[in-house]
Amino acid sequence: MCGLGGRRSPFVATPGNLVSSGMDPIPVFDAEAVFAAVPAEMAIERTRLAFERHARGEWVMPPKVYVEAPPEGDFRAMPARGDGFALLKWVTSFPHNPERGRPVVIGALLLSSAQTGELLAIMECGSVTSLRTGAAAAVSAQLLARDDARTVGVIGCGVNGRWAARCLAAAGYGPGICADVRPEAAVELADELGWRSGPREEAADQDVVVTVTPGERPVVLTSDLREGQHIAALGADAKGKGEVELDALGRCRLFCDEWEQASRGGELSGAVAAGRLSRQDVTDVGDVILGRKPGRLSAGDVTLFDSTGLAIQDLAIAIAVYEAWSRGEVEGPEVRL
Ligand SMILES: NC(=O)c1ccc[n+]([C@@H]2O[C@H](COP(=O)([O-])OP(=O)(O)OC[C@H]3O[C@@H](n4cnc5c(N)ncnc54)[C@H](O)[C@@H]3O)[C@@H](O)[C@H]2O)c1
Repeated sequence: MCGLGGRRSPFVATPGNLVSSGMDPIPVFDAEAVFAAVPAEMAIERTRLAFERHARGEWVMPPKVYVEAPPEGDFRAMPARGDGFALLKWVTSFPHNPERGRPVVIGALLLSSAQTGELLAIMECGSVTSLRTGAAAAVSAQLLARDDARTVGVIGCGVNGRWAARCLAAAGYGPGICADVRPEAAVELADELGWRSGPREEAADQDVVVTVTPGERPVVLTSDLREGQHIAALGADAKGKGEVELDALGRCRLFCDEWEQASRGGELSGAVAAGRLSRQDVTDVGDVILGRKPGRLSAGDVTLFDSTGLAIQDLAIAIAVYEAWSRGEVEGPEVRL
């Protein structure tokens, strides 16, 4: 990834702007600009690189801070730094928002220079989140699924489920079965990708199974597991959420995006709290990417990746957006703060 050196609009001092901060104008990217800047293939490549750089200690990230907003959901503040940039994402998980026509994940992301501290860009964060979340599912499948794994089951075909399916398709997986308690969501996604909609049980029987529900109840049961599967559990990204039965977790070789975060809030955290899992049972995917730790050990293993969503993943996508703007490939209105 390249450094800074972004395109700048000429700043002309006038009496009116002498009261401003003196900073250059910065671009604001809406969801359309983010998606135009970062195709799924690039999101996968950058997300993999983020896991790698974090595992090497080059990209840093304190654990995300949760601010609960009961009974609706929670806010998260997610900072990270790497490659000369720093970022803060301020984002929600409000699982019942779709009932009032609003997305679960809403917020904004600030990208700054880690050399001068200057703010460089503001981005819509649902799009960044979807790209890096979907990409994480694809990275985990490329790393942990059997080499001959092809078919996909998507359980939960909402905003982030759709991007998980798109990224898996971009990585060469498919065809797939799309399942959702809202059949129309499953049909729409299946039609988009040329896949098929079907019941949860059928989706859970595929080579690669991705779960992206609100995590209110298990959607992968112990009785669903079959040898050689890979499961990417994306929906449970906070305390109290879970999509996989506890006993099923006990049958899987377990991987996560980052233990500190995953052990506190995510698919594995319930089993950790119940004393059924500890650090040595779970491998961070970055360590597998670096070859420090093994991934799948045998064709019969069931591998499970717990994604809780990392700020370094957001950083990877945000840098890619900023680079695309610097090359003149996407536009964003500019504001001076
Ligand atoms: N791991 C991560 O990095 C990450 C990133 C973003 C969102 N999330 C989490 O993923 C979850 C989904 O987020 P979203 O933005 O896609 O929400 P969404 O509301 O757009 O989609 C959720 C989908 O799940 C479906 N669903 C609900 N219960 C189901 C069940 N029992 N079986 C099958 N389908 C079911 C809903 O009908 C909906 O289509 C949330 O919990 C969110 O916090 C995780």
